[in-house]
Amino acid sequence: MTKRIGVLTGGGDCPGLNAVIRAVVRRSIVLDAGYEMVGIKYGWKGLLTKETMPLDRASVTGILYRGGTIIGTSRTNVFKDENTPKTVVENIRKLKLDGIIAIGGEDTLGVAKRLTDEGIKIVGVPKTIDNDLNGTDYTFGFDTAVEIATDAVDRLHTTAESHNRVLVCEVMGRHAGWIATYAGIAGGADCILIPEKPIDINEVCDVVQRRHSRGAFFSIIVVAEGAKIKCGAKEEEILSSSRIDEFGHVQLGGIGQVLAKAIEKKTGYETRVTVLGHIQRGGKPTAHDRVLATRYGVAAMNAAHAGRYGVFVALRGKDIVEVSLSEVTAGIKTVDENLYEMSKTFWGY
Ligand code: F6P
Repeated sequence: MTKRIGVLTGGGDCPGLNAVIRAVVRRSIVLDAGYEMVGIKYGWKGLLTKETMPLDRASVTGILYRGGTIIGTSRTNVFKDENTPKTVVENIRKLKLDGIIAIGGEDTLGVAKRLTDEGIKIVGVPKTIDNDLNGTDYTFGFDTAVEIATDAVDRLHTTAESHNRVLVCEVMGRHAGWIATYAGIAGGADCILIPEKPIDINEVCDVVQRRHSRGAFFSIIVVAEGAKIKCGAKEEEILSSSRIDEFGHVQLGGIGQVLAKAIEKKTGYETRVTVLGHIQRGGKPTAHDRVLATRYGVAAMNAAHAGRYGVFVALRGKDIVEVSLSEVTAGIKTVDENLYEMSKTFWGY
């Protein structure tokens, strides 16, 4: 009997999504149990519009190294309106889907958890360049984003040095500063600002001044877009627009500019800003992310084949394990405090 399994990718795109899709499809072929794989277009939205595409060997050929997702993505929240979850459940039945493999971050897997509670059979795969998903040591896409950000910091170093400037590099990281911390350490940043540790601008200026007073003429600051500036008892988050997505997230961006202006004003050192933005999410995944994404895809298909739903596949140490989807909704994974403290060894000393 044919078993139809739907595959969807939700939330912001991420290098390695195609590698997961390919691994899921290729594993389904090897299992030789009569699977028919169906791509659900644009994340959860595809279960409202019933927009699908066949996923067979030919459609996943040549996509391992390609960025983005061949089935499209969106930030659709099917629990935003009262009636949409019912439509989704009905459409899953109409599409004759026996199970779903949902590839996404906290929002997509949060929806997966709620649909699981409604009786839908789902296996999750943890994705996000931000690496802030609870329950797994690493999400795929993070390594690629760190590589891109580190390369940018390296490039900013040589131009900062040539012009005796302070250069602020704004990277992604809405709730957690994993990319900033890793790229900051790898790129030799003089100060790293993350959402978990609100900081006073005077402290940042002290770091720059300390560094310059011991003979350096340039500095590099790496800041996560979600970092908060402490102003007395207040903590300020910088938004790039007033738009709010279906999960209630604001659009962040602009902290680098705010910081650069304040540093220049307080220290007198010429300061410039570079915002990396979506460059961190585009393009091909690193070899590390391709391997992780492939392992996740194979493990997710194995879980579906064994009928183990309501879980997501996760990396724990060296192993891929299955974890209850409820762990995703238990909170976010913030930056390791010891790692962040360690980075301060290099802050202007
Ligand atoms: O994928 C997560 C993330 O990279 C966040 O760090 C960032 O705030 C968000 O995506 C921005 O995505 P978009 O511009 O697609 O809304």
